[in-house]
Amino acid sequence: MSRIRFENVSKRFGGVTAVDDLSLEIESGEFVSILGPSGCGKTTLLRMLAGLERPTGGTISIGETVVNELAPAQRNVAMVFQTYALYPHMTVAGNIEYPLRKRRVAKNERVRRVREAAAVLELEALLDRKPRELSGGQQQRVALGRALVRDPAVFLLDEPLSNLDAKLRTHMRAELIRLHRRIGRTMVYVTHDQLEAMTMSQRIAVLRDGRLQQFAPPRDIYARPGNDFVAGFIGTPSMNFLDGRLEGTGSGRTFRCGDVSLPVGMLPLADEMPEPDRRVRLGIRPEHIRIDAEGEAARVNLVEPTGHETILVFDYRGNELVARMDGDVDIESGDRVKLAFRADKLRLFAAADGRRLNDDSTP
Ligand SMILES: Nc1ncnc2c1ncn2[C@@H]1O[C@H](COP(=O)(O)OP(=O)(O)OP(=O)(O)O)[C@@H](O)[C@H]1O
Ligand SMILES: [Mg+2]
Repeated sequence: MSRIRFENVSKRFGGVTAVDDLSLEIESGEFVSILGPSGCGKTTLLRMLAGLERPTGGTISIGETVVNELAPAQRNVAMVFQTYALYPHMTVAGNIEYPLRKRRVAKNERVRRVREAAAVLELEALLDRKPRELSGGQQQRVALGRALVRDPAVFLLDEPLSNLDAKLRTHMRAELIRLHRRIGRTMVYVTHDQLEAMTMSQRIAVLRDGRLQQFAPPRDIYARPGNDFVAGFIGTPSMNFLDGRLEGTGSGRTFRCGDVSLPVGMLPLADEMPEPDRRVRLGIRPEHIRIDAEGEAARVNLVEPTGHETILVFDYRGNELVARMDGDVDIESGDRVKLAFRADKLRLFAAADGRRLNDDSTP
């Protein structure tokens, strides 16, 4: 009942296009993340959905209703903002109850709903405290409680964990996933943190400069990025790119870039290179590089052990390649090694527009 549909939605602020001709359909009950770098239009998208900002063009629907002309209060959505200001003079219970008071909900009903929200968020023992007597994570849960008591059809969350330390973020991430499972409401979650998006969402919408780049489950976003932007944005360290050309055809196809020459004939392409000598970008994920006696010569420029894995930077025929290897690796900066790549995991992108060329059946 609370499917969300954006159809060709745009938002311009004077000369700035914050959201550009975006179409997107979110299923009822789905957990979707909006992911992208700072300034790409995430908050604007959410604010338009909440009714706090009016689209310059296009249609937004919730369920079967076009909501473009509806005031925020008529949309049955609750938004938790990037900065979740709680009222400092009110108790936890008072803060959670506030939206119900504003709506003149009867006292009994208010008490019941606050108790319910407090139980879901495990805030029962804290109801009489003031916000300043709470940890960041507890304050965060109160802000969520304020949204929860309204029992909206749709939850809009704008980077709600950004003010928390790393450990608390991990904890709250798990709490939010549990909350979503329990209440089954549609949740739209804005973040620029790819780890949050990857771990929490059923699908991720990747935005760049107000334009939708890809909308797909986390696994697909990682393994089948629609273009080189998505490929480079998702994954740490980032995917390595080599800019070069495709030569030959069929199983004899080769990628060339300076002194690099790699056979890529086993990669099925979506279209058979219409033009000869096609310019492409080759993408290699750091975890798909390994040291192999049969491989190609490279020099180690940097070794960064993190404990559970080691990040290595190589000079590979004049190109810098970042690799990720499990555990501790017995290699030092300056060493000469041989590298091999997981051939089936290589990704090819068109140089002209960045779109992925590997066929969709490629794992
Ligand atoms: N009220 C406004 N007036 C003018 N420009 C705006 C306004 N709100 C947003 N913008 C511009 O629109 C673009 C998108 O902004 P938005 O806040 O949606 O980005 P965001 O993806 O949420 O970024 P962040 O990750 O930094 O929060 C930016 O270029 C921003 O400067
Ligand atoms: Mg924002």
